Amino acid sequence: MRGEKNRIYLMDCLEGMKTLLDPEEVDVIVTSPPYNIGVEYNKYDDTIPRENYLNWMEEVAKECKRVLKREGSFFLNIGHKPTDLWVPWEVAFTLRKYFTLQNVITWVKSIAIQKEDVGKYPNIKGDITVGHYKPIGGERFLNDCFEYIFHFTKSGDVKLNRLAIGVPYQDKSNIGRWKSATKDLRCRGNTWFIPYETIKYKHKERPHPSTFPPKLPMMCIELHGLNKTDLVLDPFIGIGNTAIACMKLGVNYIGFEIDEIYVKIAEQRIRGKLLYYASETL
Ligand SMILES: C[S@@+](CC[C@H](N)C(=O)[O-])C[C@H]1O[C@@H](n2cnc3c(N)ncnc32)[C@H](O)[C@@H]1O
Repeated sequence: MRGEKNRIYLMDCLEGMKTLLDPEEVDVIVTSPPYNIGVEYNKYDDTIPRENYLNWMEEVAKECKRVLKREGSFFLNIGHKPTDLWVPWEVAFTLRKYFTLQNVITWVKSIAIQKEDVGKYPNIKGDITVGHYKPIGGERFLNDCFEYIFHFTKSGDVKLNRLAIGVPYQDKSNIGRWKSATKDLRCRGNTWFIPYETIKYKHKERPHPSTFPPKLPMMCIELHGLNKTDLVLDPFIGIGNTAIACMKLGVNYIGFEIDEIYVKIAEQRIRGKLLYYASETL
């Protein structure tokens, strides 16, 4: 490896991958690129023409493919806005030339569960509405409560450690009923409820307009398998949530980010000076 492990480089990710990473040395890529929906970043212009954006994503995908191991996993988190719902799928379709889409995970940010739909489940005592909720105006759209995590691999048959992020059975009588159900842990499936930290920030105090919680990269890395993960790459690392996840899990990381303010915040968080930053005002 030409770059240093456990470092965030203030650098364009294409240049960074090309100059600092050798072929097939990364086990897991987990990242969230700009979505091309007009998010107001400090430095990056998120309003470039769609064709240019998709061409750029294609270049990023080619480099990701070069540096990822044959049995590696590439988790791409991407969101949308109500007036532009196609963008995640346009990106996924662009990446289809280079990767197999092995799983599609829905990152659920907010959910409402009604008691009457749950039945006799002792832990749920009433209606539940949990997670991040940002009201939108008008009458056309539902509030946006999810984003995608596309899980790309080179072959489509990368073995995963599903029980590493497993959940207990609701109906315990299922344990032992199926051959595979030997203990009280099952695959959680492809809908992941991951809330933001519940901290209130005024708009101008928000250091970054579009982050994911550290738990998101943690779950991706654990699903790929901690025992086969040495190096994690985040080409668009923002304020360092993938680095925080890697530190918690004890795996190495390398990240790229073009904005010096975000890199500075990431470094402070890594050094333990700032613990949490919520992405949105809650
Ligand atoms: C959706 S945000 C990622 C946020 C990150 N997941 C977090 O939790 O902090 C996308 C990031 O990509 C950065 N970016 C844009 N163009 C870049 C490039 N060419 N190379 C590296 N980073 C870039 C933006 O500054 C922004 O911070």
